[in-house]
Amino acid sequence: MRTWKRSGIAILIVPVLLLFSCAMAEQKGRGPEAKGGEESGYSPAVSKESPEGTQKKEVRESSYSPVVIKESFEETKKQDIAAKPSRMAPHMKLLNERYDLSKNVAADVTMSGGKPIPVGPTAKLKSGITWEKLAAMTPEEIKAKGLFPYLPLPHPVHEVGGMVFPDMVLKKLPRLTRFDMDFDIPEWFLPEFPAPIYLTTHKDMGDVSKGQLVTIDNYFELFNGILNPKQIEGLRLLVTQFPQQQFNTTDDRKSEKPSLGVTCFDCHANGHTDAATHLVGDIRPQSHRNRLDTPSLRGVNIQRLFGSQRALKSVEDFTEFEQRAAYFDGDPVIATKKGANILERGSQVQFMAEFQELLDFPPAPKLNVFGRLDPGKATDSELKGETVFFGKGRCDDCHAAPYYTDNTMHDLKAENFYTPQTINGQYIRAEGPIKTFPLRGIKDSPPYLHDQRCLTMEDTIEFFNLVLSLKLSPQEKKDLVAFMRQL
Ligand code: HEC
Ligand code: HEC
Repeated sequence: MRTWKRSGIAILIVPVLLLFSCAMAEQKGRGPEAKGGEESGYSPAVSKESPEGTQKKEVRESSYSPVVIKESFEETKKQDIAAKPSRMAPHMKLLNERYDLSKNVAADVTMSGGKPIPVGPTAKLKSGITWEKLAAMTPEEIKAKGLFPYLPLPHPVHEVGGMVFPDMVLKKLPRLTRFDMDFDIPEWFLPEFPAPIYLTTHKDMGDVSKGQLVTIDNYFELFNGILNPKQIEGLRLLVTQFPQQQFNTTDDRKSEKPSLGVTCFDCHANGHTDAATHLVGDIRPQSHRNRLDTPSLRGVNIQRLFGSQRALKSVEDFTEFEQRAAYFDGDPVIATKKGANILERGSQVQFMAEFQELLDFPPAPKLNVFGRLDPGKATDSELKGETVFFGKGRCDDCHAAPYYTDNTMHDLKAENFYTPQTINGQYIRAEGPIKTFPLRGIKDSPPYLHDQRCLTMEDTIEFFNLVLSLKLSPQEKKDLVAFMRQL
């Protein structure tokens, strides 16, 4: 609150700052003094005064969000809409500085459902630098000269955060539109939407979604007769809306109309991903929270750790905790206000998990039972790429066949290549161990890494070429891409 009071002075002096300042205060849920309206039924969760009642010490940002919102919803919305262009502008500038966002897709290869695969590398290098020159430098040199092309990527509005959905999703599900911000990465870098659905129990059927986005309107028609009743009920819950931080019925929401909430499949669309982004729930302060990519749920059956860093041990745990706390930034206090949906473990969580466990990786016709290329089917370049993957690239040290994961976490120490600093509200620093995401079906889920910082497969390979000091030749990189597209 004291920070707010200080910025209050600026508001009086510089009217232009008014909107922005209010907007920023609002992001943390800290509105200006009450502007009339009805008295809230809630008590504040964040104490306004320090226990000593003094204003001397710098206080750490509270882990808690306020429960009582002092501005009216209409007022907040007006301020958010007015502030949106100036909030989004720095991020879009950063994105354009870091990446070439123009459309460049492969002519000959597609994702499983037919969407063309984006081609990179998209990361822009400083003038005079080439990928080869960069790979020849030491991490210290790259760090000192500020040349690392794959810095952690901030959320579109990092100070605010929350679930943000790409335009392609909003076109089908307009209820997911936020009035305070937009998704940032162009559609050609995103997974196909809606993506095909493959079931481990129905290899014979191929894509069981029939090209449709599975929602509450069609799930029954599509799945009755191919799932058992328990799995159908699990799927119903996965496509049912439940309250979430930005999408709920209270004055503290970011949707125009009061919302019943989001469904699991709003992000994990068709059991895959639509690349909706978010901030990780389990880090504070806000500046330290990582941007997140929605992971695909394909192949959760063979995985043993869930969440990029949380490492929950079962799909059941993750399912239960998404709605209890992750939907509300890991804040159970706010969850209670906005409407936490407590799932019953035996009859709901387990059913939802059981459906998720049926979601198969997409077909990989060139792989044999060991997950290795069948030489009779693969091209020369793909075979050479496989040799790099299992040899010079050392990729299989962590991404072991047949699913291309070791089901553990690794600290890639990318921070050796950059200086800790704040960029657009995000404090970039050592991120610690991250889950080894499986690479089966990886061509279907750009952008890559937990925070979407690598827009294409080529970028991911440049990332690993630097981080693992591999010194791959341009041809080896090309072959590696050819191989990974077959996984
Ligand atoms: C933003 C939209 C979003 C919604 C809605 C959502 N998730 Fe997630 N989900 C994510 C993100 C982002 C992660 C990665 C979290 C992390 O890295 O800590 C994730 C992770 C998971 C994982 C672990 C996957 C892995 O590979 O580690 C499971 C399982 C999961 N979600 C299931 C669900 C279920 C079940 C629901 C509904 C109750 C749901 N999710 C709703 C975005 C979403
Ligand atoms: C030391 C272990 C390790 C090695 C070696 C390794 N990886 Fe990874 N890989 C990881 C981890 C951990 C992640 C997740 C990193 C993140 O999200 O920030 C990852 C992520 C990826 C991703 C993105 C996955 C996704 O779903 O976004 C791709 C693609 C990838 N690795 C390819 C490779 C290739 C190709 C090589 C070899 C050149 C390689 N990896 C070597 C551990 C490793």
